[in-house]
Order: sequence, then C-alpha cells, then structure tokens
Amino acid sequence: MKIPYGKQHITEEDIEAVVKTLKSDFLTQGPAVSDFEEAFSKVVGSKYAVAFNNATAALHLSYKILNRDSLKKVFVTPITFASSSNCVLFENGIVEFVDIDPLTYNIDINLMEEKLRKNPTDYQGMIIVDFAGLPLNTEAFRKLADKYNLWIIEDACHAIGGSYRNSKNEIIKCGSGIYSDLTVFSFHPVKHVATGEGGMVTTNNEEVYRHLMNLRSHGIQRDEKLFLEASHGGWYHEMQELGYNYRMPDINASLGSSQIKRINSNIEKRSSIAMKYKDSFKNLPITFQKYNEENVFNAYHLFVIETDNRKILYEFLKERSVYTQVHYLPVYWHPYYQSIGFKKGLCPVAENYYTKCLSIPMFHSMTDLEQGYVVDTIKDFFSSFL
Ligand SMILES: Cc1ncc(COP(=O)(O)O)c(C=O)c1O
Repeated sequence: MKIPYGKQHITEEDIEAVVKTLKSDFLTQGPAVSDFEEAFSKVVGSKYAVAFNNATAALHLSYKILNRDSLKKVFVTPITFASSSNCVLFENGIVEFVDIDPLTYNIDINLMEEKLRKNPTDYQGMIIVDFAGLPLNTEAFRKLADKYNLWIIEDACHAIGGSYRNSKNEIIKCGSGIYSDLTVFSFHPVKHVATGEGGMVTTNNEEVYRHLMNLRSHGIQRDEKLFLEASHGGWYHEMQELGYNYRMPDINASLGSSQIKRINSNIEKRSSIAMKYKDSFKNLPITFQKYNEENVFNAYHLFVIETDNRKILYEFLKERSVYTQVHYLPVYWHPYYQSIGFKKGLCPVAENYYTKCLSIPMFHSMTDLEQGYVVDTIKDFFSSFL
C-alpha cells in the first residue's frame, strides 16, 4: 500500500465530461471555461470568476492590476508556495515577509500592524494565504488594509470550500470577495479541485474583472462596444495593452466543472479525516494548527503536524510507503531569494515551524484502511523511537 500526502480524485463522470469536450468544437478557451467560471463563482459566492492556466498566472495578473507603485512594499507570508511572492517579483515589486502566528501558521496580523505603524506609507498591499485550508479572518485584515490604504490579494489556493464567521456572525466563504479585493485558487492535482493545471481569480469588482479577462488573452479586445478604433468588419479585434496567453483550455475547464460538483463531500471527508487524526494523536508529542473550531471552517487541503522528530519520522514513514511532505521551506530560504538579498533569521517563528512541520496524507479518496495504516505507523514510530 503506497499512500501519498495528497492526490486527485477522478471519477467516470469526470472522464465523460472531458471526453465530451474532446469531441466538441473547442479545445482551448471556449464555452466550458465560462461554464466553469459560473459554477465556481456560485460555489464561493462571488460576482465574477476568471479562469487561468494556473494559479501562478492568476497571481501575476492580480498583482499587476492592483500594483500602484512598484516602490511600495507588499506583505507576504514566508510559509507558502513561492508563487505567492514571486508574482510581486515578476513585476519588479518589493516583497516584505511577515512572520507567522505559531498557532495557526498563518501570517501574523499583529506583526503586520506593527510594521505599518512604524512606516505607514511604505506599503501598498498584502498577499495573504489561507495556509493548509485554514481561512484567515479577512474582516480584520480589511480593517487594517483600509486604515493604511492597502489592497488585499487572498491566496486561497489551499482553501476552496473554507469559511469563517465574521463579527456579525455571518458566514464568509473564501473567494466571496466580501473583504479581499481578489482571491486566487489553484487546481493543481493535489488541490480540492483538479484540472491538471489551472487557476481562478474571484472578485466583486467589475472593472478589475474586465481587466483580468483582457490581460489573460494577449490584451486583445473582441467586444465591439469596447473598441478604441472603428471596427474594420466582423473579423476585427484590437490589442489594447500588453497581455499574456494565460487562458485555461476547455479540456481542463470541463474537468473542473465536473469536479466542483463534489466540493461539499470532498470537504466533509477531509474534515472527518482531520477529526480522526486529532483524536488518534491526542496522547502523542504532536501539535496541529490551533484555531477556534466553532467559528472557522478549515478546508483541510493539508493536514500538518509539528514534531521535534520530523526528519526521522519522515524517513520512517517513507520506508513504510507513507509519503509525507514538508509545507513549506520559508520562501526566502530558497537560493534565489538569498541571492537577491533576503537573509535567514528574518522570520524566526516560520523558521522554527519549518524544522518541525510535516504534512501527512489527506485526500478525498482516502479509505479508512489507508488512514488506519497511517495512524498505526505514526503510533509505532513514537512507541519505538521515544
Ligand atoms: C499557496 C499557493 N499559492 C500558489 C500556488 C501556485 O499554484 P499553481 O501550481 O496552480 O500555479 C500554489 C500551488 O501549489 C499554492 O499552494
């Protein structure tokens, strides 16, 4: 039995949906993309959704559109996939890493506020990540952002289906655009919804939505009403700004529409796996993300444990065919970030977390037998090694 930390879940219905597209007139962006965008915005409760060929492209254009002044800094958490901060560097912007909260592993809002109090005009925005699927309290981040005139990009690549209760006891879904200007999702195979490669941005801002639509397809405008010059005829289209080919193909979008129908059962299953893990490990020297479970609904993209014995546990599990992963090396520890001047020691909480964290298997199709094996193997490790 080989058990990965995460994997896609493909059903016969998914395969039929893709085959239908393969037999249709469109392979690249066509009607399946708009259908997926519509289904996605309904699930998260946003006005608009724009599909991309991956979340990195989606983050790039999100930053490009919101960027007001490349000399103003952008707050990013160091415990994330590199794309969350790379998107700022793509446009020669300036990243300021803010340490994480040791309980939630999410960016620490108090440290961000401290930096803003000291240098209130140095910053223009924040890219905040719902790490492992745990939604941030975007209401609080919005309050801070409004005070200092910052924009918010929420990287919710881990958190489709996540939500929390705000101060008025309303349920705020990740991607609803109520507090964040733009929210970005990924459909990489280990995520909740897999399209091979794929990403999505949701927003409630019509102007930003139209701009994203334009930039993802070469900056070319095909809507006659929006032409800058008089149309030459039915074939006419205009490139109005320097754009990209960041389009999602219909093949991927049809898989996404089929997958997203199962989002509720997917999240419920992940939640029950998490509960079983927490219960099984309660007497072991292991800690987990801590948060108010009554008010915050974790989407559990990952199940992260912290242990002082991370490296030997990783090897022990691997020898027994349980393939875990580490999320993440603090981004600025990567040699590229070191080469552009970031120094180790910048975010001590994140660095300490990195020495202990391990993502153990968590995926929709995980069987009780598989989870039982993971639990027993981890228990064996602690009884034989400690
Ligand atoms: C938090 C986070 N942001 C961004 C990305 C980039 O997503 P993609 O692989 O779709 O470009 C990922 C993917 O792993 C991620 O986990």
